[in-house]
Amino acid sequence: MEYLVNSRQMKMADQYTIQEKGVLSLTLMERAAESCVRVMDELGMDLSRPCVVCGSGNNGGDGFAIARLLAERGKEVTVFLVGNSSSCTEETKHQMRLLKETGTQILEGYEPGDYSLIVDAIFGVGLGREIIGRYVQVIQQMNEADAQKFSVDLPSGISADHGAVMGIAFQADVTVTFQTTKLGLALYPGKRYAGKVFVEDIGIDLTKAEKDSNLTYAYEREDYRKLLPIRRADSNKGTYGKVLVIAGSKGMAGAAYLNAYAAYMAGAGLVQIYTAEENRVVLQQLLPEAIVTTYDLYDQGELLRLLKWADVVCVGSGIGTTEKARKILRATLENVRVPCLVDADGLNLIAAHKKYLDALSVDDLVFTPHMMEMSRLTDLTIEEIRSSRMDVIKSFADQHRLTCVLKDARTVIASKGRKASVNLSGNASMAKAGSGDVLSGIIAGLMAQGMEGYQAAVLGTYLHGRAGDLARERKGTYSVMARDLIEFLAGAWNELEE
Ligand code: ACO
Repeated sequence: MEYLVNSRQMKMADQYTIQEKGVLSLTLMERAAESCVRVMDELGMDLSRPCVVCGSGNNGGDGFAIARLLAERGKEVTVFLVGNSSSCTEETKHQMRLLKETGTQILEGYEPGDYSLIVDAIFGVGLGREIIGRYVQVIQQMNEADAQKFSVDLPSGISADHGAVMGIAFQADVTVTFQTTKLGLALYPGKRYAGKVFVEDIGIDLTKAEKDSNLTYAYEREDYRKLLPIRRADSNKGTYGKVLVIAGSKGMAGAAYLNAYAAYMAGAGLVQIYTAEENRVVLQQLLPEAIVTTYDLYDQGELLRLLKWADVVCVGSGIGTTEKARKILRATLENVRVPCLVDADGLNLIAAHKKYLDALSVDDLVFTPHMMEMSRLTDLTIEEIRSSRMDVIKSFADQHRLTCVLKDARTVIASKGRKASVNLSGNASMAKAGSGDVLSGIIAGLMAQGMEGYQAAVLGTYLHGRAGDLARERKGTYSVMARDLIEFLAGAWNELEE
C-alpha cells in the first residue's frame, strides 16, 4: 500500500526524522540534492548550461545544494535566489555559503537566458498561499524558456495537499519527490504539471506520518487482489446477491442497461431493473439476463416488494428529476434496509431536497457524485471542492455516515471513520456519457457479493479505471465507449486473478 501525504504529514515526517531520529537537516538536504542529480544523470538531461532557481525556504536549500554538486563537477551553473535573502532559513543560508565557496555567484531575481536545464527549487511542500507578485513573472518566464525543466519535490505553485494550481505553477518535465508521493502529485492538475515523477528514498522516517488519521491510501495491485470476493465451486446465483437497479426514464434506457450489465459483469448473481415502461422492450433485447419490471404510474407497493427482494439497491442513473422520480427516490431511501448506492439523478434529487440527507438510515450507503453533483450536494463551487477535495469529501462522508466516491480524472474515495484513498487507474478516453453508470453498476455488483460499500468502491473504481486503460490500448484515446468499459472489465479481473 502506498501512502499519499499532504504537506502537514510530510513536514511531520521531516521533523520526526530530524528531531527524534537525529538525522541532520543538512544531511537530508544533501541526500535530496544527490538524488536529484542522480536522476538527471540517469535520464541523460542536458547539464551543459544549467540554471537553478531557488526560493528562501528549505526547498531553495535543496536547490543550492544541487547547484553546488553541479559546480563541483565543473559545470557553469547560473543560480538565482527569488525572494528575500533575509528570510532564508538557517539551513538554506548554510547551503548558500557552501555554494559560494565553489566560486559560484548567487544572483537576485531571475533573468531569462540560454539555459539547457532549469531546476525549479522555489517552493516545495511549504507553499502556503496563492502565488502573487514577482514570483508570478519568474515562473511565467521559466515556463516560457526553451529548456528542459526539473522540479525539486513538487512543481512550484502546486498545492501538495490538493494538486491545485495556486495562481501559477511551474510546468516540469521531471519531478523528483522525496520519500513518498505527495497528494498534489497524484491529483490533477498537479500530476500534469509534475511531468515524470521519481520518488527517491532519502531516509525520511514516515512512521509517525503513517499513523496520522488523515492519511490517504493509494492501493496497489496486491492490495486489490486481497479484496477480490471469493467465488466458490459449490455456489449458485443466489450466493452472489440480487441487485435491484432503479434507473432509466423515458429516453434513458441506456443508463439502466449500463448499470445492470456492469453489475452482472462485476459478478452479481441476479439483476432486476425497475424502470419506465417505455424501456421494457429495449432492455429485454439488450440484456435478456436481467429481470425487467416497469412502472407507468408509480406504485409504492410494488417498489416496496422489490426493495424487499433485493440484497443491494443501485438507484438514480437516468431516473430524471421529475415528481415521479422524486417519489421513487424518497420511498427507496425511506424503506431500503439493505446496502444501497445512489448515483446521478438520485444525487441531484437529494441535493434539491437536502432534508433527505438527514433521513438516511441505511448502514451501508455509497454515493458516487461527479464534481457537479458534489457541488450541488455541498453548496460549494467546483473550484472550492477542487482546492480542498480531500477535506470536503472526508467531512461529507463523516457527516452523513456514508462512503463517498468523488469522480474526477483522479477519483477519491472516503468513508465514515476510514482513511481516504485515491484511485490511480483510468485515463481521458473514459470521459464520456455512461462511464459513471458503468462505475455505479460495478460497485453495486461487488456489494451484492457481500463486499462492504467502501471496499467495493475501492475495488470497483480500480477495475473501472483499469478496464478503461485496457480499452484505450485496443481502441485508442477517442473511440472508447462506456459499454467498452464493461467488455474490458474481464481483462481487468483476469489481471488480478493471475
Ligand atoms: N508566496 C511567497 N512565499 C511563499 C509562498 C507564497 N505563495 N508560500 C510559501 N512561501 C514561503 C514562506 O516563506 C515559507 O516559509 P514559512 O512557511 O516558514 O513562512 C517558504 O516559502 C517555505 O517554502 P518551502 O521551501 O516549500 O518549504 P519548507 O521550507 O518547509 O521546505 C522541504 C520544504 C522540507 C525542503 C521539502 O520540499 C523536502 O522534503 N525536501 C527534502 C528534504 C529536506 O531537504 N529536508 C530538510 C529540510 S531542513 C528542515 O526541515 C529544518
